Parts: sequence; structure tokens; C-alpha cells
Amino acid sequence: MLPSFNPCVDPEGIGKTDGTALAVVHLRAAPLLLAVTIALMAGFPASAQKVHLSRTVPGGMPGETNFITAITLLTNGVQVTWDGPPGYYRLYESPSTNDPAWRALTRHNDWLRTATVPARYSNAFFQVTGPTARYAGSETCAGCHAPVLKTQIHTLHASAFTNALFAADGGQTNASCLACHTVGFDLPTGFVTESQTPHLTGVQCENCHGPAAQHAANPGDPLVVPRAELAAQVCGGCHNDPRHPTFDEWSASGHALPVVEDMNPAGRIKNCGRCHSGSVRVSLLDKTPLPKGDADMGIVCATCHNPHQTNSNPAQLRNPIASTEDYFMPTNGVFAKLYNPDIGICAQCHNHAGASWTNNACEPHHSLQYNMLLGSVGELASGLPPYQPGTHALSITNQCVGCHMQTTPFTSQAQPAVTGHSFAVGTNYTLCLKCHSEPALLVTFATNDIASQVQALESILDYWAANNAPTSLAKYGSLAWEYTTAGSLNPGRLGPAASEQAQIPENIRKARFNLYLVQNDGSFGVHNPYYAITLLNAAAEWVYGEITP
Ligand code: HEC
Ligand code: HEC
Ligand code: HEC
Ligand code: HEC
Ligand code: HEC
Ligand code: HEC
Ligand code: HEC
Ligand code: HEC
Ligand code: HEC
Repeated sequence: MLPSFNPCVDPEGIGKTDGTALAVVHLRAAPLLLAVTIALMAGFPASAQKVHLSRTVPGGMPGETNFITAITLLTNGVQVTWDGPPGYYRLYESPSTNDPAWRALTRHNDWLRTATVPARYSNAFFQVTGPTARYAGSETCAGCHAPVLKTQIHTLHASAFTNALFAADGGQTNASCLACHTVGFDLPTGFVTESQTPHLTGVQCENCHGPAAQHAANPGDPLVVPRAELAAQVCGGCHNDPRHPTFDEWSASGHALPVVEDMNPAGRIKNCGRCHSGSVRVSLLDKTPLPKGDADMGIVCATCHNPHQTNSNPAQLRNPIASTEDYFMPTNGVFAKLYNPDIGICAQCHNHAGASWTNNACEPHHSLQYNMLLGSVGELASGLPPYQPGTHALSITNQCVGCHMQTTPFTSQAQPAVTGHSFAVGTNYTLCLKCHSEPALLVTFATNDIASQVQALESILDYWAANNAPTSLAKYGSLAWEYTTAGSLNPGRLGPAASEQAQIPENIRKARFNLYLVQNDGSFGVHNPYYAITLLNAAAEWVYGEITP
């Protein structure tokens, strides 16, 4: 159930995917014809998910290599899922390796890239045949997709072949460079040489959408409509090698995890998905219908980067890198009304989502980093709305990106580049050396200091609960100061019921709010050191006031 008050978050039913579904598949790679065995096993749930590209293939969207990605036993048969460009596919089956008789299971029009067929053998083999690549080049798209082409031809993608460095490095005639710098290299109708196929240089539409000549010739044919695929694997087909291991770094980051797995409770798709699902957020931005079975997607490349946009923003980002205007979007607010494109890319999601001390149901969400950086969330003794950005907000030009996306250039295969797409500060304190001589020590010192101040504040709240709380709340013991669903300092426990929350003095409620802001920010004060201390001090004073009135 969704909590009634907006910033609350109900962790029930939200988990991370465990990815066990593919356990029994044995893959045999061969370019066009793939055989896969399965040991029939009970119990995988049917999935209503759209089939997303699940592998990286040099060049982006696969041009014609079709491969089986999953075989799942359902109650009504076997579900076989494969991948490849848009087009007509056909699925075949053979009872065993010894039996060469492949029997067609579907008609030659299986464009969904998944089929459910009866389970007839305990160790069946499957193979799939599919379309032959037919590339057209982006000029062919002009007639019908002019607005996209108009911007796309000005991106660095479009000039990836003519790039002076690329030419100087001999890339234009080096076969090992062409898959990622041209369209459909080494595939039928794909790039051959600059003089033979001048219309296929650079990174174009068909690198991301798959070969589209058939679609351009016959746009009314629904079976060959190119894929508008959001999966990071499309980009990862090129953005992943020791010189720029962007995809691997991203894959290891929390952004690759779809947090909100269960999108069923009404409202979750749009309320939580705007920050937790890459596909939901893109739909909200594009004003297209929200994905349904398809919301369970991480914060993918195209959530932050708009691949059709020019480079007026650095790196095709949808939003600027930094901003200083206070901002949050309430969890249940109307996206189209409250969206502000001028707010920094990270702050789009890492904001407090409408947290307020007057919410008694649960702690402020863990996403409040932007407001902590600006010192714009929390209760101050003055009662005035806060806005106290520290040096880290104002003097680090790239704000979050500055600290969390530090890069290192490529040195050798053994020492690959770091692109910053793990989003972790980790132990790379290079940027900090501009202003601090021993940043690592400073962080240890400051985080220990804040952690112990948090602990001290929690102890005096516990003391208040044990000694000064109204007797009607005594049954909650040291949790008498907590939210109804206790916060992350008391995980899995319950504080006073909604009807009893009014018995907790206002000052205690303000104090617990400040406490959880500092705790849930996750930086132990580093984002805005003085402000974090100000919040904890104000809180401590309120609690002391209630202990000795
Ligand atoms: C003659 C007109 C025409 C040409 C030429 C054309 N398209 Fe399309 N395209 C369409 C139409 C119409 C649709 C919508 C089809 C639908 O939704 O069933 C479409 C849909 C698409 C989509 C899918 C959009 C979505 O929402 O899923 C992509 C991607 C696409 N086209 C790419 C291309 C590319 C790349 C080219 C050039 C190689 C191209 N198109 C050439 C008319 C055209
Ligand atoms: C076919 C290979 C290929 C695919 C697929 C691809 N890229 Fe690229 N990308 C490149 C190359 C090559 C460059 C460098 C172009 C240059 O600087 O000349 C580049 C550059 C970029 C840049 C830098 C642009 C800038 O202004 O600094 C961004 C951002 C980017 N790609 C994002 C993406 C995203 C997001 C996707 C997926 C939606 C993607 N790319 C898919 C090959 C690819
Ligand atoms: C696996 C795909 C892939 C292959 C193969 C590949 N590149 Fe790239 N190349 C990229 C991507 C992606 C970028 C953009 C990287 C980024 O901005 O992070 C890029 C960027 C570049 C750039 C930088 C452009 C700039 O202005 O900074 C040069 C130069 C380059 N590649 C040359 C080559 C050469 C030479 C080869 C062959 C020896 C090669 N590439 C092979 C994917 C590839
Ligand atoms: C670097 C990868 C990349 C390139 C290059 C690219 N697209 Fe796309 N395109 C995407 C992604 C990812 C989406 C889905 C995201 C979205 O809907 O905003 C998309 C969506 C679309 C759509 C569907 C809805 C929309 O946003 O308009 C159409 C049509 C389309 N692209 C056409 C084209 C055409 C035509 C070109 C070339 C002129 C092109 N794309 C170049 C990645 C790319
Ligand atoms: C304003 C954007 C935003 C909204 C809206 C939002 N979240 Fe989050 N959520 C985040 C961010 C960002 C994090 C990660 C913070 C971190 O790692 O420190 C997060 C973390 C989480 C976590 C992990 C918390 C933990 O203990 O580490 C859960 C669970 C969660 N969100 C569930 C939800 C649910 C359910 C909803 C809808 C009711 C929701 N979120 C709405 C941005 C948001
Ligand atoms: C959470 C947002 C986010 C996601 C997700 C994301 N990026 Fe980025 N990306 C950024 C930001 C911010 C920058 C600019 C970094 C900077 O200027 O230091 C950037 C920079 C880049 C650049 C340009 C690097 C350069 O040196 O010019 C490329 C290429 C790129 N990203 C590709 C990708 C790819 C590929 C993916 C998916 C595997 C991806 N990004 C996912 C936010 C994101
Ligand atoms: C579209 C929403 C969105 C955007 C944009 C976004 N984040 Fe996140 N971020 C999240 C969510 C959701 C999580 C929680 C993921 C999880 O732990 O499952 C998260 C987690 C994190 C974490 C926690 C560490 C981890 O790997 O789990 C860091 C650090 C982080 N983000 C930094 C950034 C930075 C820096 C930017 C800007 C370049 C950014 N984020 C942009 C939604 C977003
Ligand atoms: C002064 C550098 C700095 C700036 C600026 C900064 N951070 Fe951090 N951040 C840190 C440090 C240091 C930590 C402590 C944990 C660590 O080392 O990752 C941290 C922790 C976090 C965490 C919790 C990490 C986790 O693993 O759960 C998130 C999420 C986060 N920052 C997001 C952001 C966002 C979003 C912004 C911009 C609004 C931002 N940070 C700005 C340095 C910075
Ligand atoms: C532009 C200069 C600048 C950069 C870069 C910078 N800081 Fe700071 N930092 C400061 C200043 C000035 C303060 C004092 C507090 C304030 O003014 O907000 C501070 C305070 C701190 C504190 C608290 C110190 C205390 O005494 O409690 C920590 C911890 C810290 N910074 C860590 C970092 C880390 C880690 C990085 C790099 C990821 C970093 N800083 C980058 C300027 C900087």
C-alpha cells in the first residue's frame, strides 16, 4: 500500500531483482543459428516484461546476430526469448543433439522476440532465424523524422568518423575501429569504406535503432518498426573498452539496479518511478504513456543523456550539471507541472521529495542530498526556511559530479581509464586536494565526528522517551520519539501509532526530523559540514528543552 502522506516510502514489496531466472540456460554461440538446451525445471514465473536488449554487441543495436537470451518453463509451456534487430523471426526446436530434424514452432512473423510454445521434451534444443541486416543511412530518415535528424547530425556521434583525432589515428581505415565509428560495419549493406559507403560514416540512427531500410521503405509495416530501446546495453555496445569503460562502471553502480521492483501498488509507477525507473522517467519527460510491464528498469544512460540532443549541454545531458536554486519534487506532485529542466541532473532525483517535520508516518527519504548540499531542508531554531549552501555547493563548479564522477585518463590496458560512471567518491580524493591537504584523514575525522553526534542525539531522544515522554506512550519504551514506521536507526520497528503521534511534543518531532536528515543524507556531513552540525545542534537544544523544561 502506498503511504498516504507524500514523502513516505513503503519498503514492503520493494526489492532488488535477484536475476536467477536464467540459471539453467546453456548458450552455444554461433552467429545466426543458435542452439540452446534446457533441463526442464519447475517454477519460474511468467513475465510480462517487454524484451530489452540484454547484451552488448559492438556497434550498438545488433545488426543481425540473433541469440537466445532466456528459456523459462511456464505452467503452459516453455517461454523462449531472443534478441536482435527488429524484424521477422522464426523459432525452431529439436528433441536432442543427435536429432537433426529442426521443427518450426512459430510462423515466420515472430517479431516480439519471445514465444511461448508447448513443453514437449525434457532436454530440447531451440534455435531462431531472423532478419538480414538492411541499412539505409540517416538521410533516408529525413523525410519522416526530420526533427530528430536535424539535431542528431550536430552531435559528436554524427562526426565520430570525421573526428580529426580519429582520422589522425588511422581509424578511418582500421577495421578494428570501425564497428563503433560507423554504421553496420562488416554486415550486409553496412559500412565498407568511406568512398563506397559515404552515407554510413559516424554513429547514426541505425546504430541505436538497428537496420531500418525495410522500415523506411514501408513505414506502415508494424513488424519492422525499429526498436526505440532504452537499455544501457545499446550504448554499452560501444561505450565499453579500457579507454572508456563507461558501461562496466555504470553496471556496477546503484543506478543499474531497478529499486522499485514491484510497481503494482497504484501510484508507484509514477510516484516512485520518476526517480527509480529509467523508463518511467523518460516517459514522463517525453509525455508518452507510462510503461506498464516495463517500469522495472534502472537509471540507464538515456535517462541522463538525450541521444537526439545536440551538445549545447555538455555530454548531451538532459539537465545542467550544477544549480543553486532550491528544489524538490513532492512524491505525489504532478510531474509535468513541477519539472524544472534548469535544476542539476543529479538533483532531479536526489532531492528531499517533500519531506517535512510534520509528517509523522516515516522518516525523510534517503534522496535528500541536493537539499543538504544547499542547506535548504531542516528545521532551524530561527524558524526561518533554511538556505545555507556551504563551500562544497558553491566552489566546486560541478557540485555532485565534481566529487562523485572524478575521472582518470587511460594509461594502459592494465590501468584503464575511469569515466566516473560508478558515481562513487570511493577513495579518489584528487579533486579535494585543491582545497584540503589530507582529505582522506579529514573525511575519517568528520564522518566519525558526525556519526558520534548522531548517536549522542539519538541517546538523548531515547532518554527523553524513557523519562519524559507522556505515560500513554510508555509502551513504546525508547521508541516513543519515533515515527509510526520507525526510521533507519531502528529498522523494522514501530513507533507510536498515527493517532498517538500528536502526543509527541513538536520540538521532539522537529529534532527527530533533523536527526534523520543528517543520517539519511549518507555523507556524514561531508555535503555541507557546518550545516549538518547546525541541524544537529538545533535538534539537541530542543530535546534538552523537553528533558528539563
Ligand atoms: C516514410 C516515412 C518514414 C521513414 C522514411 C522512416 N520512418 Fe521511422 N517511422 C515512421 C512512422 C510512421 C513511424 C511510427 C510507426 C508506428 O508506431 O507503428 C516510425 C517509427 C520509427 C521508430 C520507432 C518509434 C517508437 O516510438 O517506437 C524509429 C526508431 C524510427 N521510426 C526510426 C527510423 C529510422 C532510423 C529511419 C531511417 C533509416 C526511419 N525511421 C525512416 C515513418 C518513417
Ligand atoms: C556505434 C557506437 C556508439 C553507440 C551505439 C553509442 N555511442 Fe556514444 N559515442 C560513440 C563515439 C565513437 C563517440 C565519440 C564521438 C567523437 O567524439 O567523435 C561517442 C560520444 C558520446 C558522448 C559524448 C558527447 C559529448 O558531447 O561529449 C555521449 C554523451 C554519448 N556518446 C552517449 C551515448 C549514449 C547515451 C548512447 C546510447 C543511447 C550512445 N552514446 C551510443 C559511439 C557510440
Ligand atoms: C568498442 C567500440 C569502439 C571501438 C572498437 C573504437 N572506438 Fe573510438 N570511441 C568509442 C567511444 C564510445 C568513444 C567516445 C568515448 C567517450 O567520450 O567516453 C570513442 C572515442 C574515440 C576518440 C576520441 C574522440 C575525441 O575527440 O576525444 C578517438 C580518437 C577514437 N575513439 C579513436 C579510435 C580508434 C583509432 C580506434 C581503433 C583503433 C577506435 N577508436 C576504436 C568507441 C570505440
Ligand atoms: C545514440 C543513440 C541514438 C541515436 C544515434 C538515435 N537515437 Fe532515436 N532514440 C534513442 C533512444 C535511446 C530512444 C528512446 C528514448 C526516448 O524515447 O527518448 C530513441 C527514440 C527514438 C524515437 C521514438 C520517439 C522519440 O523520442 O522521438 C524515434 C522516432 C527515433 N528515436 C528516431 C531516430 C532517428 C531518425 C535517428 C537518426 C536521425 C535517431 N533516432 C538517432 C537513441 C538514439
Ligand atoms: C525524488 C526522487 C525519489 C522519489 C520520488 C522516490 N525515491 Fe526512493 N530513493 C531515491 C534516491 C535518490 C535513493 C538513493 C539514496 C541513497 O542511495 O542514499 C532512494 C532510495 C530508496 C530506497 C532505499 C532506501 C535505503 O534504505 O537505502 C527505497 C527502498 C526507496 N527509495 C523506495 C522508494 C519508493 C517506494 C518510493 C515511492 C513511494 C520512492 N522511493 C520515491 C529517490 C526517490
Ligand atoms: C545519473 C546520470 C548519468 C547516467 C545514468 C549516465 N551518465 Fe554519462 N554522464 C553523466 C554526466 C553528469 C556526465 C558529465 C561528466 C563531466 O562533465 O565530468 C556524463 C558524461 C558522459 C560522457 C562524456 C564523457 C566525456 O569525457 O565527454 C559519455 C560518453 C557518457 N557520459 C556516456 C554514458 C553512457 C554510455 C552511459 C550508460 C552506460 C551513461 N553515460 C550513463 C551522467 C550520467
Ligand atoms: C533518475 C533519477 C536519478 C538521477 C538523475 C541520479 N540518481 Fe543517483 N540514485 C538514484 C536512485 C534511485 C538511487 C538508488 C539506487 C539503489 O541503491 O538501488 C541512486 C543512488 C545513488 C548513489 C548511491 C550509491 C550507489 O551506487 O547506490 C549515488 C552516490 C548517486 N546516486 C549519485 C548520483 C549522482 C552523482 C548523480 C548525478 C550525476 C545522480 N546520482 C543522478 C536516482 C538518480
Ligand atoms: C565535496 C564533495 C561532494 C559533493 C559536492 C557531493 N558529494 Fe555526495 N558524498 C561525498 C562523500 C565524501 C560521501 C561519503 C560516502 C562516500 O565516500 O561515498 C558522499 C555520500 C553521498 C551519498 C551516499 C553514498 C552511498 O553510498 O549511499 C549519496 C547518495 C551522494 N553522496 C549523492 C550526492 C549528490 C546527489 C550530490 C549533489 C547534490 C553530492 N553527493 C555532492 C562527497 C560529495
Ligand atoms: C573548492 C574547495 C574545496 C574542495 C574542492 C573540497 N572542499 Fe571540503 N571543504 C572546503 C571548505 C572551505 C570547508 C569548510 C566548510 C565550508 O566552508 O563549508 C570544507 C569542509 C570539508 C569537510 C569538513 C571538515 C571539518 O572540519 O568538519 C570535509 C570532511 C571535507 N571538506 C571533505 C572534502 C572532500 C572529501 C572533498 C573532495 C571529494 C572536498 N572536501 C573538496 C573546501 C573544499
